[in-house]
Amino acid sequence: MQARRSRKPPDHSRVEMTEIVLPEDTNQYGHAWGGHVMTLIDKAAAIASTRHCRTNVVTASVDSLTFRAPVKLGHILKLYASVNAAFHTSMEVGVKVLSEDPLSGLQAHCCSAFVTMVALDATGRPTPVPGLALRTPEERRRQRAAAQRRRSRLAGR
Ligand SMILES: CC(C)(COP(=O)(O)OP(=O)(O)OC[C@H]1O[C@@H](n2cnc3c(N)ncnc32)[C@H](O)[C@@H]1OP(=O)(O)O)[C@@H](O)C(=O)NCCC(=O)NCCS
Repeated sequence: MQARRSRKPPDHSRVEMTEIVLPEDTNQYGHAWGGHVMTLIDKAAAIASTRHCRTNVVTASVDSLTFRAPVKLGHILKLYASVNAAFHTSMEVGVKVLSEDPLSGLQAHCCSAFVTMVALDATGRPTPVPGLALRTPEERRRQRAAAQRRRSRLAGR
């Protein structure tokens, strides 16, 4: 297996995505499908983790997801994703989703997710990822929380 590469700060891989909810993204009540939001979460996590390791990645798992507020047709979805922790071949990416009413500008927290992405080499096998260069107390707090979640996650594997 390759040696672990040099550390990178979370800023280098952070993702901000903005989407508008269109009719094909909604159910018959005009609310966004949960699966649509989950697809966007997976995309944001894939982009952040790919930027971090610059290899192919796959989604290994998504921790439990709770939708806190409905997202309506025409609303704007904003996704913020960043690598919380880099382990050996896997990374935890935190994704926060906000919805914005385009007319009032009011925002609501739709959901947050913790996604585990695994880096793959050219043969499709897991490969080591660069470490995270943690610079702020908040980044260190996120890394500690991610390590704690990883213990629970892998215990249930
Ligand atoms: C994820 C996958 C690459 C792991 O392969 P594996 O042969 O189990 O490899 P390993 O046991 O060496 O695990 C590799 C890493 O994945 C992590 N991992 C594996 N399963 C996991 C899970 N359910 N949750 C979180 N992390 C997991 C391991 O902890 C390890 O991370 P680490 O090196 O940082 O410690 C493999 O299961 C896979 O390809 N799954 C399908 C992925 C996919 O297609 N996703 C899209 C679904 S449509």
